[in-house]
Amino acid sequence: MRFSRVSLILAAGSTIIPSVSAWGAVGHEIIATVAQMHLHPSVMPILCDILNYKGNCHLAPVAAWADRIRGLPQYRWTGPLHYIGATDDYPSETCAFPGERGWEGRRNINVLSGIRNTTNTLESYMGLRKAGLTTENDEDAAQVALKFLIHFVGDMHMPLHLTGRDRGGNGIKVSFDSRVTNLHSLWDGLLIAKRIRTIPSNYTRPLPLPDVESQLRGTIYDPYIRRVVWEGITGRYEDELDSWLTCPAEPSVQPLQTHWEQWLSWTFGRRIGSWIVGSHLTDGGLNTDDETLCPYHWAAPIHALNCQIVFPKALDEPPYNHVSFSGSTDDHACNSSNQSLEVHWLSRPRKNPYLELDTPEYSGAIEDAWIVEKLMSQGGIRLAAVLNWLFADMDDSTPLNRTYIL
Ligand SMILES: *[C@@H]1O[C@H](CO)[C@@H](O)[C@H](O)[C@H]1NC(C)=O
Ligand SMILES: *[C@@H]1O[C@H](CO)[C@@H](O)[C@H](O)[C@H]1NC(C)=O
Ligand SMILES: *[C@@H]1O[C@H](CO)[C@@H](O)[C@H](O)[C@H]1NC(C)=O
Ligand SMILES: *[C@@H]1O[C@H](CO)[C@@H](O)[C@H](O)[C@H]1NC(C)=O
Ligand SMILES: *[C@@H]1O[C@H](CO)[C@@H](O)[C@H](O)[C@H]1NC(C)=O
Repeated sequence: MRFSRVSLILAAGSTIIPSVSAWGAVGHEIIATVAQMHLHPSVMPILCDILNYKGNCHLAPVAAWADRIRGLPQYRWTGPLHYIGATDDYPSETCAFPGERGWEGRRNINVLSGIRNTTNTLESYMGLRKAGLTTENDEDAAQVALKFLIHFVGDMHMPLHLTGRDRGGNGIKVSFDSRVTNLHSLWDGLLIAKRIRTIPSNYTRPLPLPDVESQLRGTIYDPYIRRVVWEGITGRYEDELDSWLTCPAEPSVQPLQTHWEQWLSWTFGRRIGSWIVGSHLTDGGLNTDDETLCPYHWAAPIHALNCQIVFPKALDEPPYNHVSFSGSTDDHACNSSNQSLEVHWLSRPRKNPYLELDTPEYSGAIEDAWIVEKLMSQGGIRLAAVLNWLFADMDDSTPLNRTYIL
């Protein structure tokens, strides 16, 4: 009875008795659930059809599919689509996004291009579908693209998927509550897990918001989602939600660009210009952004968190710069095994040589600033807006309460 033990451990120290449920890939599932609460009513039936659901349809169960299949031979190529790293990026010393030497890895094989690519695939698919011209291959491609899109929007809102340093923090061992973990796992789940253990008890009761409650699935993190929606999306972030969806209307010229490059881009237009001048234009030379969908523009402030808070300076100062690191071999892999969080809380605290991050200065500051909750809110609202933009039937006159659109 592994899961019930975990529930008890989570409940200790707070008054909540969460329902028994697996952890899974918590962050992805939360973002997918928040997104689902903000879909136009015409969208979910189309998504369920594409996902070929029989029975209860929900986006959360497919949100971590891309992590589960990335080790299979036919999907191994998709590994680098989960993240992006700039060549000169080394938080907290420098945060290049990108610097003069551009991006690591192969061109257009990264999480931001993944968002652009899957969105394009789904847009073409909808064109064919409206014309009644889809084949079985199109249906399969749309299903894969949708599952990847749901996942990549989640990955993009995880700061460690936007830096190449130490395999997105997987190679940096740290201590959390005197238990050994790594920086990536800490941000994947442990920060959220701690928030759930200490959530105010009033979130175990349903909110007076039927369109929120109807999307919850009885998971251990339902109270956390309620809090993110109540205090975040309908609370402190209410007035900035629209700004999370805007893209720069005109590609602005960044300081790195030379006069020669400016001339090229003015002369030939942005798209041609950005192919020629590489990494110096508004979307970092990725060709991902336009005036409607702009993953690079959205990602830039999330990447900046790596220098602001994610990588503590102490990691690069004695004595912690001398402890040797090791970790899993897969780049930027999220360990979405059900067990990784459980194993953490079940393991005994022990003296270890790593930097302790369950401190007021680190986890406390992240909690006070609502950093993880803001990322969950942004991921959910942006995913909903992209899906609404792709799939909503705007002639449908159902009154809209919580719908955002690009
Ligand atoms: C783009 O998406 C299509 C369909 O999902 C896939 O076949 C293709 O390999 C993708 N390319 C990149 C660079 O992501
Ligand atoms: C729950 O309690 C907190 C104070 O601890 C309050 O700020 C919040 O608004 C309450 N939430 C609900 C849904 O009543
Ligand atoms: C919109 O909000 C009203 C009032 O809060 C509620 O009665 C109604 O059910 C909501 N509509 C939808 C589609 O959720
Ligand atoms: C996660 O939990 C679910 C539900 O208990 C189970 O079906 C699944 O096999 C588990 N996956 C892993 C990787 O442990
Ligand atoms: C994921 O976590 C589980 C449980 O802690 C562990 O057995 C497994 O080796 C981990 N996988 C990776 C790739 O780190």
